[in-house]
Amino acid sequence: MTDTRPLLFFDSGVGGLSVLAPTRALLPTAPIVYAADSAGYPYGTRAETEIASRVPALLGRLVERYRPRLVIIACNTASTIALGAVRSALDLPIVGTVPAIKPAAIASKSRVIGVLGTEATVRQPYVDRLAAEFASDCTVIRHGSAELVDIAEAKLRGKAPDPAAMARILAGLTDQPRGDEMDVIVLACTHFRLVDAELAAAARRPVQLIDGADGIARRIAYLTRGQQWPAHPVDNVAVFTRVDSDVLELAPALRRFGLDRIDAL
Ligand code: DGL
Repeated sequence: MTDTRPLLFFDSGVGGLSVLAPTRALLPTAPIVYAADSAGYPYGTRAETEIASRVPALLGRLVERYRPRLVIIACNTASTIALGAVRSALDLPIVGTVPAIKPAAIASKSRVIGVLGTEATVRQPYVDRLAAEFASDCTVIRHGSAELVDIAEAKLRGKAPDPAAMARILAGLTDQPRGDEMDVIVLACTHFRLVDAELAAAARRPVQLIDGADGIARRIAYLTRGQQWPAHPVDNVAVFTRVDSDVLELAPALRRFGLDRIDAL
């Protein structure tokens, strides 16, 4: 019998689609459930305690409903705060998304790297530990932007990002001490890869943008190696904790990512 258990992706909004895309490229017939906590969006401006209680509870309900083979927390904010709690609560493999500081430190020549995430992510001790472990000889500049998360959501609803807003957000990094030497920026929020071309175009000088999505896709393929997949793509579902007009406006973009149906949790 074919194994139809899905991969379950989780984010506050559409950011996790940037992790879903390279995963589908590696595993084209993998059944997908893409879950977005639209009722809790945005996570980046919430308190740690809220995220720490909300994410494991929601994932518990999602796992019960969809019985996935693997869960991917495709959200840096949720992963840096709640990954440990989710792993202890659920008895299946959980893949998290954490800022790609290690590859950024390897790539940087100037030894000045930027971390662009949500306000909640950039203040996490998890990020201090990554910086201490992998980039101890680098200056690590951090900036949190809720505006950029909204810009990415709006882009998927059809609204082009404003170049002036992108330049202003980048200035949050470059205006800090040694900011003009920064040659690599870690996109430490899954939403930001959805606007990476617009960010690169707004940069005053060439800068490499790095995120973890391709590495996560490879990790998912590795963790599911030897498992069966359906012979043909199946109907994939996007499930939202609140379905409102903003969510319905996402339908064409969701279809481009292979998500044909919208469910409410
Ligand atoms: N996509 C999320 C992340 O990677 C969070 C966006 C938000 O809800 O603030 O951090």
